[in-house]
Formats: sequence, structure tokens, C-alpha cells
Amino acid sequence: MENSIDSGASKITVIIKDAGKSLVQVIDNGTGMPEEDAALCFLRHSTSKVETYEDLESIMTLGFRGEALASIASVAQVELRTRTMNDELATFIKIEGSEEVERSKVAADIGTSVSVRNLFFNTPGRRNFLKSNQTEFRHIYDTFVKLSVANPDKEFELINNDDKIFDLKSSSAKERIISIFGKDFSDALIDVDHKNEKVRVFGFISKPNFTKKTRQDQFLYLNNRYFTNKNLNFAVYSGYDDLIEKGDYPSFFLFIEIDPKKVDVNVHPSKMEVKFEDESLAFGTIRKSVKESLGKADLVFNVGFSNTLSLGGDSESFTFTQPSRESRDTPATRHERHWQDVSPKGRIGS
Ligand SMILES: Nc1ncnc2c1ncn2[C@@H]1O[C@H](COP(=O)(O)OP(=O)(O)OP(=O)(O)O)[C@@H](O)[C@H]1O
Ligand SMILES: [Mg+2]
Repeated sequence: MENSIDSGASKITVIIKDAGKSLVQVIDNGTGMPEEDAALCFLRHSTSKVETYEDLESIMTLGFRGEALASIASVAQVELRTRTMNDELATFIKIEGSEEVERSKVAADIGTSVSVRNLFFNTPGRRNFLKSNQTEFRHIYDTFVKLSVANPDKEFELINNDDKIFDLKSSSAKERIISIFGKDFSDALIDVDHKNEKVRVFGFISKPNFTKKTRQDQFLYLNNRYFTNKNLNFAVYSGYDDLIEKGDYPSFFLFIEIDPKKVDVNVHPSKMEVKFEDESLAFGTIRKSVKESLGKADLVFNVGFSNTLSLGGDSESFTFTQPSRESRDTPATRHERHWQDVSPKGRIGS
């Protein structure tokens, strides 16, 4: 999927069978590869994404190591079908355990399809380490979601054993989140967009009353690449300050943009962690962006209330409580809750 995105595809289809154990196929309508590249792409360290030493310092593609296809081809039966706009026919290459076993020309649309069959067919020991179908499916699902959240302009489809799990059309970032995570999110999100001369943080955070007991819907991206960092999650929580109780977790979808020279995305084998030249700058900017966005949202609520109600006290300290997930934040319920939940301290629901 990362390769498809890097190839400029606007539509990416993922087809899996048996939670990926018998088939994972990714089809895209990107640039495709000419035959000479198609013949090379399964070799270790073959990449088209780094040309100069400087490129290595300013990686903006999702891939750059030239390892993914080589690793996959060494442990599965792989079929590549790829065609560029300059070619009449597609190149078809079949590889089994790193060995090319077939090459031909076939009819196909412009773009690339990679089918990975019978994962670990040649290393049965590793096959036994695959988890249950449910768990393996969950891994694929999570990966699919992470990439589709970051690329709302592209179409994504996920088909599992002929069931269409997702059929995501090109949309705005917010619509993409709602189509993946459900309508509950349509009233729950606050816009974030904050910038200083070194870092930009944008995306969405959930309203303080829309929290969960788990950290499941928390997404951080660096230069449009998903990554994990507990410290920066904490930066988000700290931006909420005492608007959320301990043990409650906000949802967030935050995109951090930093000069790629100031970060190293190469420190982790699966690229899940990144190293910042100055992590405290990222921390401070995230915290500030969350605080500022909550402040703006809160300001809107308070203006609304002060027009109609006389609540007394310090209106800036008003926050909303956490209703059950069923009760959603509409303007009407917000007003109602304000009346019901004002505690003696002036803080709501504490
Ligand atoms: N879907 C695709 N469309 C066009 N070119 C592709 C596609 N998939 C792979 N390639 C080409 O094959 C090369 C090797 O892919 P591979 O995923 O192994 O390495 P990479 O993306 O360069 O780096 P990484 O190992 O970090 O993913 C890519 O650099 C690219 O040139
Ligand atoms: Mg790749």
C-alpha cells in the first residue's frame, strides 16, 4: 500500500483471503514500472526513491530502503503485474522464494498489482507463528485504516473473502474519519491547525466530552507517515489539561509537519518510531495547538451560553463532562448538559 501511495495512485484496492494467509493483493492505478524496473524491484536494496545522498536526508516517500518487496518475495509466492502509460502491455513476473519462475507480457490497466500468496510456504516454522485469523485480520485492518486516514484524497477499498469491508471514496479529511470511525465522530471533532516557523500541527482532536476508556483512536503522523510516540501522546493529553479525567482518552488524528532533515524515520525496523532532532519542540507545539483549539471551541460555547444564561463565576473554567458514548454533543444537548451539570465549583461534572 505504501508503494502504491508513493507511485501516485489515486485508487488502491486491497484483497485478502484467510486474513492474508492465503492471499494479500494490492492493486493500484499509479505509474507502474517498465519491465527493467519490474525485474529489479524484488532485489534487496533496489529502490527508485533515493538518487542522491541528499535524498536520504529529506525522505518524503513512505518507502526508501528497497527491502519490502525483497523480503516478501523471499517468503511467499508473488505475482507482479505492472504497466506504465508508455507501454501497451503489462509485465508479468512470478517469483517464488526469491526465484523468478515466470515472466511474460499480459494485458492489464496502467498501474501495478502485487499478489502475495501462501505466506511462509517455504518456511513452515514461521507460518506456525502467524496468529489467529482474527488477529492477523486486525493487523491488516489497522494498517489499512492508518494509511487511508492520511490519504483522504485517494480511494481505498478493502475486500476480505469477497466481503467489502471498506469502500472509501475521495473526500475531505474529516469525511474520511467519519466514514471509517462512524457518524459519532461528526459532532465530536475539533479542528486543529497551528504553525510556528519550525513545526505545523493540524488535524482533529475530539471534544473533551467525547473520550474513550482505551487509546484506540489516537493517530499521530509525521510528514504524513504514521508513527507512535508515547511522549507526544502525552503532549496531546496535557493540552486538554483538566478537561479530561485520568483514565479517559481523547481521540485524535494529528499531522505534524517538520523539515525532514530534522527527523530520522530510519531508526525502527518497521518505521513505527521516529527520532526528532528536537522532540521538546514537537511536544510544545502539539500541546499548544491542542490547548489553543480547545480554547477556541470553548469560546464559541461560552459566547453562546452567556447570551442566554447567567451562570456566574469564571466562565473560562467551564468544561463539559463525559456523557456516555450514546449521548452526542449537539447544540441542544450541550445547552441541556450545561444546566444539569454545573457543579458547585463551577466546573461541570467533576
Ligand atoms: N506499486 C508500485 N508502483 C510502482 N512502483 C513500485 C510499486 N511497488 C514497488 N515499486 C518499485 O519497486 C521498488 C522497490 O519497492 P520496495 O517496497 O521493495 O522498496 P521501497 O519502497 O523503495 O523501500 P521500502 O523497503 O522502504 O518499502 C520501489 O522503489 C519502486 O520503484
Ligand atoms: Mg516500499
